[in-house]
Amino acid sequence: MGGPGGARGLRASMARVVLQKVVLAQKLAQFSERWSPKVVGDVGDFQVKLAKLEGEFIWHAHPAEDELFLVIAGRLTIELRDGAVELLPGEFLIVPRGVEHRPVAHGECSVLLFEPASTLNTGDARGARTVERLERL
Ligand code: NI
Repeated sequence: MGGPGGARGLRASMARVVLQKVVLAQKLAQFSERWSPKVVGDVGDFQVKLAKLEGEFIWHAHPAEDELFLVIAGRLTIELRDGAVELLPGEFLIVPRGVEHRPVAHGECSVLLFEPASTLNTGDARGARTVERLERL
């Protein structure tokens, strides 16, 4: 496996890529809009997004996508049809595809979302709060 197409060749070509860390605080300082996720990274077909939330969102589900909410700052309640989950900084919840949910932020809340790139913020409840094209930071 020493040829150009082998493992060693792959490692050599990857070493030329300049990798840059992402500083969440710097990214979060670049926007203040609520409920408008920003893309800060790609992981295969998934994306890492940052969002600032405040107040109540709308009930929705994502028929084909699982969605991870990780709270960075503030307090977030994910309301579910059969209860609610409270999230504090450093805590996350994965909402499986098809499960109806409504995020409610108590004051300003910053979250990291990890979900397939195809995930629409309003899921199956397209409307005024839908953000079709996400800004990249
Ligand atoms: Ni959702």
